[in-house]
Amino acid sequence: MNALVYHGPRNVRVDDVPEPTMLAPTDAIVRITSTAICGSDLHLYNGYIPTVKHGDILGHEFMGVVESVGDAVKNVRVGDRVVVPFTIACGGCNNCKAGFTSLCDNSNPNQDTANIVTGHSPSGLYGYSHAFGGYPGGQAQYVRVVFADANAFKVPDGLTDEQVLFLTDIFPTGYQAVEQCDIKPGDVVAIWGCGPVGLFAIQSAFLLGASKVLAMDRLPDRLERAQGFGAEPIHFEKDDVLKELNRRTAGRGPDAVIDCVGMEAHGATIDAMLDKVKQVAKLTLDRTHVVRQAIYTCAKGGAVSIPGVYVGFVDMFPLGSLFAKGLRLRTGQTNVHRYLPTLLDYIASGKVKPQDIITHRFGLTEAADAYKMFVDKSDDVQKIVLDPAA
Ligand SMILES: NC(=O)c1ccc[n+]([C@@H]2O[C@H](COP(=O)([O-])OP(=O)(O)OC[C@H]3O[C@@H](n4cnc5c(N)ncnc54)[C@H](O)[C@@H]3O)[C@@H](O)[C@H]2O)c1
Ligand SMILES: [Zn+2]
Ligand SMILES: [Zn+2]
Repeated sequence: MNALVYHGPRNVRVDDVPEPTMLAPTDAIVRITSTAICGSDLHLYNGYIPTVKHGDILGHEFMGVVESVGDAVKNVRVGDRVVVPFTIACGGCNNCKAGFTSLCDNSNPNQDTANIVTGHSPSGLYGYSHAFGGYPGGQAQYVRVVFADANAFKVPDGLTDEQVLFLTDIFPTGYQAVEQCDIKPGDVVAIWGCGPVGLFAIQSAFLLGASKVLAMDRLPDRLERAQGFGAEPIHFEKDDVLKELNRRTAGRGPDAVIDCVGMEAHGATIDAMLDKVKQVAKLTLDRTHVVRQAIYTCAKGGAVSIPGVYVGFVDMFPLGSLFAKGLRLRTGQTNVHRYLPTLLDYIASGKVKPQDIITHRFGLTEAADAYKMFVDKSDDVQKIVLDPAA
């Protein structure tokens, strides 16, 4: 089958690889009908995520049709159309039962590797390095879905792939990022990054009661889209972010600040430039300029939410500001499963139209060019969907 394979930093291509087979009675094989490229894939592509190996199949946003199921699978059948959350749940551990599926105790077989950096391993992830399970990803024609009863969610036939595909990651990710801030009606929410995750965070902030959303980026097309969803755009290179956030909140600062950028933040300030030098010199894995700015600008008693991905140890962390203002800090991979029913309802009722953020569609065979386009942010790209059959 065709699959998008990692061959080193900035070097991916579609190879002919063996089709997956079932390895446990709880597995299912899914024929993928749609798959997307995520900002998280770019961290792998740029070589910043340790333990990704040459030959790994990438991709964690995918859906399709169940092709075969193991003997122990009860909830899905051959022919069912399913979306598959990128965080893998076993369905049976205490964290899964409590809805914290991204913290599943059983889905990462390589916990010892993850523990070196994290202390305790989060769940396994599709197509996201060996520290997170080494699971082959879904930018492919077929994928092995593990613990299928807990991870293959049937979707109504009346909804198209493009309507439901982003339930696998970015819609729940934007939603969790806001939900974990415990927004009160009337709150002002500031969002760094108007990529796909940022745009879903903007929409979720209004769904959850924000009165105003301030959205930052430097790409004009992305700022325009953010404005289209009701946010007030701020160009972080042309405007002074601290001044603007204070000016638009009567000097208080935003009640919730959300980092939808992650470990490859841009910036022209001294700290951002230092981060860049250190990342290139491999002295740090993460560029944390946005985290610093978010904490520093947040209102007293406010909430800091970090859906943006970080992997290592960081310095110049404004602990004093976090402490002095009594801020609440929330972060993590997304507990996709817990939000699926609610978000599916938003889509079915037409309240949220996830397909509206798609700007480019390619065949899977063109995936290498699609990665290049997405990393360069050329042609006003916002979100790319790949068709494995083309
Ligand atoms: N927590 C999770 O479970 C989860 C899930 C999906 C994605 N993510 C992460 O969310 C982040 C965003 O993903 P995406 O798909 O939207 O990525 P993306 O690369 O398309 O978007 C990132 C945006 O941030 C902007 N940006 C860069 N520096 C900035 C700064 N200093 N201030 C404001 N904006 C800045 C970029 O111009 C870009 O538009 C990534 O780190 C991704 O790994 C996390
Ligand atoms: Zn993703
Ligand atoms: Zn579990």
